[in-house]
Amino acid sequence: METQRIERSLERAVAFATPGGAPPKLAAALRYAVFPGGARVRPRLCLAVAGACGDPTPQAADAAAAAIELLHCASLVHDDLPCFDDAGLRRGKPSVHAAYGEPIALLAGDALIVLAFETIARECATLPARMGPLAATVARAVGMPHGIVAGQAWESEADIPLAEYHRAKTGSLFTGAAAAGAIAAGADPQPWMAVGGTLGAAYQVADDLRDLVACDGETGKPCGQDAQNGRPNAAAALGVAGCVARLNDLVESAAAAIPDCPGAGMLSELIRSEAKRLMPEKLALSAA
Ligand code: IPE
Ligand code: IPE
Ligand code: MG
Repeated sequence: METQRIERSLERAVAFATPGGAPPKLAAALRYAVFPGGARVRPRLCLAVAGACGDPTPQAADAAAAAIELLHCASLVHDDLPCFDDAGLRRGKPSVHAAYGEPIALLAGDALIVLAFETIARECATLPARMGPLAATVARAVGMPHGIVAGQAWESEADIPLAEYHRAKTGSLFTGAAAAGAIAAGADPQPWMAVGGTLGAAYQVADDLRDLVACDGETGKPCGQDAQNGRPNAAAALGVAGCVARLNDLVESAAAAIPDCPGAGMLSELIRSEAKRLMPEKLALSAA
């Protein structure tokens, strides 16, 4: 049900940006960047937190979830560009620049970023008390000084602080997704931010593990990219066993940070099933 909610809100948002008469290649690339999606893990987290807080205004939660996924898709389009990771495969198909060329990919990312904020503004027009805090929270998750943009910028520095790099590049949008879910429901985002942040850290550790141990067929994107691009990688730093232990620790701390609420059990279930899904096949088999 949540999946349908997310796809419906994304479809509605993308439809606003791609009517007849819009530049056709850019319209097609924008849609290609969003559909079909990956795991939609950030909007699922956002809706799960909104649900745990009672979800009294689902329209606001839907807008927040869609905005967060649009920003995530934009970050992937830009991250795959030749000037960043130069990756030709994403979600099991050619990345946006491989399919549409670099200028259109750059613009598709830009358009998705703008569309995210337009979505919050439009869908929360009748909920003005939600609009400002939602826009500010989502902006903080993706911009400077500690959002995705900052995370990508660390890659241009000589010394990359691993924890801050990962927190900005990946953790911030998870923190933002959890906080936005609470704000959309009119609840205090503070206790949820620790859940999101720890989950984001776990997610990046899992992604690093997959980059080192899995293969392209399993992840739908090129593996071994971190070594190839000289990026810090938690599995390379901690060793595979150390990295698995760190992942398990982070998953348990994220579950433990969930505030006491009616949806707590469902949320910790979601967290643990995600951790299982992200374990590379080889390691899952050897652990079984
Ligand atoms: C990939 O994110 C980028 C990271 C920050 C690890 P996801 O693994 O959530 O990608 P999709 O959306 O499922 O394709
Ligand atoms: C991408 O990070 C995450 C962004 C915030 C853009 P990575 O480069 O580590 O992830 P993949 O391997 O491309 O998905
Ligand atoms: Mg990349």
